[in-house]
Formats: sequence, structure tokens, C-alpha cells
Amino acid sequence: MSVETTDLLDVDDLTAAELEAVLDRAAAIKAGEDDTDLDRQTLAMVFEKPSTRTRTSFETAMTQLGGHAIFLGPDDIHLGRGEPVKDTARALAGYADAVMARLFDHADVEELAAYADVPVVNGLTDDAHPCQTLADLLTIREAFDGFDDVTVAWVGDGNNVAQSFVLGAALADLECTVTTPPSYGVDPAVMDRAAELGPAPTVVDDPHDAVGDADVVYTDVWVSMGEEDVREEKLAAFEGYQVNADLLDGSDAKVMHCLPAHRGEEITDDVIESDRELIWQQAENRLHAQAGLLVELLD
Ligand code: CP
Ligand code: NVA
Repeated sequence: MSVETTDLLDVDDLTAAELEAVLDRAAAIKAGEDDTDLDRQTLAMVFEKPSTRTRTSFETAMTQLGGHAIFLGPDDIHLGRGEPVKDTARALAGYADAVMARLFDHADVEELAAYADVPVVNGLTDDAHPCQTLADLLTIREAFDGFDDVTVAWVGDGNNVAQSFVLGAALADLECTVTTPPSYGVDPAVMDRAAELGPAPTVVDDPHDAVGDADVVYTDVWVSMGEEDVREEKLAAFEGYQVNADLLDGSDAKVMHCLPAHRGEEITDDVIESDRELIWQQAENRLHAQAGLLVELLD
């Protein structure tokens, strides 16, 4: 094991060298050059929110690695009806070799990690989505044959996916420009953390300026899980931030999206279906990136 951290609550739990080790391991597994066997180890997967990719990719990764994953949705365990996080953590750690959790409150995944004496992986909270960033970086590294001179423009909401991405981008030495509506920016504390790790992300007001000559334009939904009651307010605030043909006019940038996509809101169908997209490679890479992470944490 070359990764010393025991938990992945956000990307900067990894050093730059550890991030590279995870990506290298992921690439080797993807290429069929690493046959690490997790030998019946079990991953408990706790979900307070829905998931297509995170659930399926973690479960598939554990199967392919010779282990097993247990899906624990909100109606399956007592966490959904009031059993404390710290009690859930200690019980699950008594059975499973690692816990992956998708929770609303980031403080809850921190508490889970504090009480579980097995590795805890954040499968998305309101504040962070580090596993998405691992797949994003693997995808960028594949598409551009490394990270040298690659610039990424983040266009849209500055919450969980964006926050982990700016941290990962800094660790990977990528230039990153962020453009969001004024009240929906990346937390300044996260921007400061990123600036400590690598090239400081730049904030740009106008999405056209952000796209400029970026190599990648990356966006995420405008209405995140749990934000349905502020949907109309957010749709109004994000007007002008859609990734569409007009925004990309004159640019040869590739386009990334963590998915699920809401076509006609943050991105248009023609952009998703164009030859700019890295989106399906990005989605598939969730499997390989997490396999790399799991073997680094558990092998
Ligand atoms: N990108 C992502 O985490 O997708 P899911 O919500 O489907 O897991
Ligand atoms: N920001 C989105 C990401 C989904 C993977 C959400 O939290 O719903």
C-alpha cells in the first residue's frame, strides 16, 4: 500500500504523490495489468441520497476485485430512522472492511470516519465528491496524455463536485478557472486549500471569459439532490451559465459532466451528444478510479 491515508473524505486527504499512485493503480487495473485480489473483503455502502454511478461502480469494482459490496439505502438501515451516525459507524466497522457513504451533511461523514476503525470513503456529501474527482482526473490524464498545460474551466454551481475538483486540479497541477453565479461560488476556504496545494484556481465572472482557450469545460447540475425546494430560485440565478453551442463558439474544448445531466438546464443535448464530450469515459472511469482507490486502501 502506497497510500497512507485511511479515509478519503475529500481529495486533499491524499498527497499529490498518493493521488498519482491511485491514478496509476486505476490505470493498471483498467489495462488488465493489476490483478490484486481483495479476497472476500466487504464494502458497506451507505446511501442517504440516490445514485446510479456511485453505487453501481463501487459494487462492480468490489465484485471484480474478488470482494463484496452491501448496499444500504435510507430505508434499509436505522440511520434513516434516527440511529446515530456514531453508532452506525461502529456497528458497520465490526462487519465490513471499509465503508463508503453518500450523506447530506459533510459533518456526518467526518463523524462516521471518526468512529469507524476501517477506511471510510466519501461517496458524495453536500460539500464534496472526491471519488468523482479521481475519475475526472483519470479521464483528463487519458484524454490529454498527462496534465501538462491542460486548463479546465468550471462553469456552473460551485458546490460538492466543483469543490473537490478544484482541490484535485491543484494537486494534479492543473490550471482551473471557476465561473459561478455570485452566490453559488466555491467556498473561499476550499479555494484557499486549493491554493496551498498547487496552482491557485482563478475566479472569472463571465462564463465566456472562463471558457476562453480552456481545454476542458466542466459543468454539473444546477439543482443538486436535496435542493428541490429552491429549484426555481436556482434556475433563475444560473441563467447565462448553460454550456451550449453559443458558450463554446470558437472553442475546441472537450466537455465534461459528472452526471446525471439535466439537458436544457446546465447543458444542452447537442453538446452532450457532440464529439467534444468526455462524459461517458468519465462515467466509466468511476469504476476504474475507485478500484484503484480500494486496492490502495485495502490491499
Ligand atoms: N456522478 C455521480 O456521482 O453519479 P450518481 O449520483 O449517479 O452516483
Ligand atoms: N451536485 C450534484 C452532483 C451529483 C453527482 C448533486 O449533489 O446532486
